[in-house]
Amino acid sequence: MDERTKKEIQRRRTFAIISHPDAGKTTLTEKLLLYGGAIQSAGSVKGKQSDRHAVSDWMELEKQRGISVTSSVLQFEYDGFCINILDTPGHQDFSEDTYRTLMAADSAVMVIDAAKGIEPQTRKLFHVCAKRGIPIFTFINKLDHEARDPFDLLDELEREFGIGTYPMNWPISCGVTFKGVYDRRERAIHAFDDAHRGRSRLNAIACDITDTEKLDALIGENLRTELVEQVELLDGASFDFDLDAIAKGKLSPVFFGSALNNFGVEDFLRYFLQLTPTPLPRTTETETVDPFDDRFSAFVFKIQANMNKAHRDRIAFMRICSGKFERGKEYYHMQAGKPIKLAQPQQMMAEEREGIEKAFAGDIIGVFDPGVFSIGDTVCTKDRKITFEGIPTFAPEHFAMVEQIDSMKRKQFAKGMNQIAQEGAIRIFFEPDAGYERVFVGVIGTLQYDVLQFRMKSEYGVEYIKRELPFQFIQRIAAYEGDLARLNLASDTRRVTDVRGKNYLLFTGQWSIKWALDNNPSLVLEDFDHQ
Ligand code: G4P
Repeated sequence: MDERTKKEIQRRRTFAIISHPDAGKTTLTEKLLLYGGAIQSAGSVKGKQSDRHAVSDWMELEKQRGISVTSSVLQFEYDGFCINILDTPGHQDFSEDTYRTLMAADSAVMVIDAAKGIEPQTRKLFHVCAKRGIPIFTFINKLDHEARDPFDLLDELEREFGIGTYPMNWPISCGVTFKGVYDRRERAIHAFDDAHRGRSRLNAIACDITDTEKLDALIGENLRTELVEQVELLDGASFDFDLDAIAKGKLSPVFFGSALNNFGVEDFLRYFLQLTPTPLPRTTETETVDPFDDRFSAFVFKIQANMNKAHRDRIAFMRICSGKFERGKEYYHMQAGKPIKLAQPQQMMAEEREGIEKAFAGDIIGVFDPGVFSIGDTVCTKDRKITFEGIPTFAPEHFAMVEQIDSMKRKQFAKGMNQIAQEGAIRIFFEPDAGYERVFVGVIGTLQYDVLQFRMKSEYGVEYIKRELPFQFIQRIAAYEGDLARLNLASDTRRVTDVRGKNYLLFTGQWSIKWALDNNPSLVLEDFDHQ
């Protein structure tokens, strides 16, 4: 590999920011982009409503930005690094999208509200990252508000997540009496006062922890005594700083700060960039792919149709795993078994999409998809046939039956349903041997129903009636000796098939799964997410 390409890859840092809604992910992302000069003012990343409330807001936002708010990638430069932030929606109804996006990251930053600690969505997302063994950094936010005891917060992380924590800095009080943080590596105080609100840079006031007089002048005697005690406790009792454990995701460096006040953000960024890895190797079914291997390889982790309504386009997002991508070059699409030229390659630069000529391992590119890609597909060079390991699928938890209103629009209905299902946020199923008269829709979060309805109407001009069904579980029929039509099932169990003709059973409760197995001895069921 030539030196230039190697350098480009070495300076890449690709990570995701995860949090429970409202913990401050958007605010932190925005501040990071401000440092990189990628945006000029706060408030331009995205409206927070996208993660929370009405679908109309969500859609409106999508229109305004012209790109997907469900998750997108933002690239910017800082201090010689080329940073790719994978933006993930916090709302749990979009969690499948988030899980997949996490597959494209090399590390994760977990934002936690200091008053709340671990929340349900933090928990779920943490486990997805932990499964991959990627480094996880913690930013404990909103120290300018009343916060829980910092030892308590660390204890909760260690207990619940079974990881070690290493506080990189330590807060000096919180809320109205918040004075700043003590940087454990520099052994210096970074003071906070109201005059600093929103300012991009604070001058650290170097102050040795033993310099009582200076400390008293800075933070007062009471807080000084408390800080000295706490720092002693930390130095004596907390985990040792261990780069190897950080790399394996066993030790999480923890930062305290306030994203809104821009306090502790740049320090976080500096340390984070030192500690977070360069693009990581990826495993395929047969080998491990080194990012510094000259031969280009990538996998598709997201597909989004109609990003630009005027063009009716469909974009496949891929994470480059090795080598360099060059526009116009011929690559190989493994799943199709065909050579392919990736058309209209583009990258997201904060607020805009930009056409690109080249990109490197660690980068995310979007390419025009004429309908050939599926999530998880591998693109590589012709001389090297590899298949990246599958992106996990997650079982839908809610089901509904949808029936189109205007039978003249059957074609649009089928097309819309299929295209949106290919993006992966919804699953569609059919009654055995039936076509598109009625479609069963399975989703993880019910907000997806609204998104589907909205998109079917606005993008395909189709309206339908939806009836929610009481099913909660889906199992794949892995084997059955006999005629599936004669399966002996409880009255509230239903058999459906998917587009590829695979058979599934929908159940309303665990007991009916047991009933099906007890009454059909040769029936073998498999979890949906094990396929
Ligand atoms: P999210 O993406 O994780 O959902 O969180 P987001 O950044 O949207 O932040 C949620 C709310 O928390 C916002 O307030 C935001 O201003 C506030 N916030 C973020 N960081 C801090 C912080 O360090 N300190 C304090 N005190 N608040 C913080 P909001 O009222 O919902 O929105 P807005 O009116 O401020 O825009």
